[in-house]
Amino acid sequence: MRLLVCGGAGFIGSNFVRARVRERADHVTVLDKLTYAGRMENLQDVADAPGFRFVHGAIEDPEAVADAINGAEAVVNFAAETHVDRSIADPDAFVKTNTIGTYVLLEAARERDARYVQISTDEVYGSIEDGSFTESSPLAPSSPYSATKAGADLLVQSYVHTHGVHASICRGSNNYGPYQYPEKLIPLMVLNALHGDALPVYGDGMQVRNWLYVGDFASAIGQVLEAGAPGEVYNVGGPDECANIEIVRRIIELTGAEKELIEHVRDRPGHDRRYSLCSEKTRALGWEPRVRLREGLERTVKWYRENEPWWEPIRSGEYREYYERQYGRSLRS
Ligand code: NAD
Ligand code: TYD
Repeated sequence: MRLLVCGGAGFIGSNFVRARVRERADHVTVLDKLTYAGRMENLQDVADAPGFRFVHGAIEDPEAVADAINGAEAVVNFAAETHVDRSIADPDAFVKTNTIGTYVLLEAARERDARYVQISTDEVYGSIEDGSFTESSPLAPSSPYSATKAGADLLVQSYVHTHGVHASICRGSNNYGPYQYPEKLIPLMVLNALHGDALPVYGDGMQVRNWLYVGDFASAIGQVLEAGAPGEVYNVGGPDECANIEIVRRIIELTGAEKELIEHVRDRPGHDRRYSLCSEKTRALGWEPRVRLREGLERTVKWYRENEPWWEPIRSGEYREYYERQYGRSLRS
């Protein structure tokens, strides 16, 4: 296929691009603004592949989109501001990228009659105490991040309904794995544990997430791209749920860090207690998750141990200032 992948230099997007180029020999154009979360290093394995093209630009810029979409049969949109804590401190870019950017992409897909897949999140449903969200659960986002993602999902559905755009939505649960920026729970804890830095657990640490290995999300998105119906939403939940404190304890075991590094810190405002997705509809397309949390965490810790050249520049750059602002403390060098 000839694909335009927006946000393809980020964590999930780059894992998706790598899989499509290697396994499907797709011709991929990546459109990415290269924010703090987007890095060309994430795409170095595919940069020389036949048909690969990189366009540096923002999805909310119609000219950049017009250039990038040229020749594409389908658009897969990963581009977003993605970190809940940053959306609480400074939501401006979240509204511009996540909502307005999605609108600009939908206009371009409509003009060119391109297939469209929106990458969304379980967070649009809000928090759930018992049971799991299905695709028909109401949207009840809690954070500025999830509200802008919900807005984007509604725009996608309106373009299907009003203009007949062939668009589907994939709602994934919390992803983890190689190339994840260390602001998110798992890579943050792995790198802090490896450096002997404090492990900052928000509140009581009993919040539950439905962990999904990134390769499993990438394969589900491929399935939806090929077999998803227009206007339909597909939930993609991981095989295991786990409380944050348990994840941190497991990372301590895997890294050999001291358990005294755990520090319970002030809770996140509006913190969702639990996420859980029912993925039967996506499984009916022939998808299933292959990596259980135990194995995925082992693989992830191994990857961070072996890829210091990837994370070292991050830990010494913008991230250091972000970390001091967010946690009120500094990292060890
Ligand atoms: P990420 O933060 O690692 O990467 C985001 C990418 O988008 C980066 O390459 C960044 O440079 C790019 N980008 C940001 N603003 C842009 C703009 N205006 N124009 C073009 N590019 C821009 O994110 P991720 O974790 O890989 O998430 C990818 C998508 O998956 C997002 O839409 C997110 O909402 C969704 N999602 C993430 C998770 C998760 O656990 N990480 C779970 C479910 C869904
Ligand atoms: P995060 O990786 O930010 O993903 P999301 O907020 O999208 O679920 O956080 C995952 C969980 O880990 C969430 O309950 C917040 C918690 N958390 C901590 O306890 N400490 C941290 O330093 C971070 C980044 C997250």
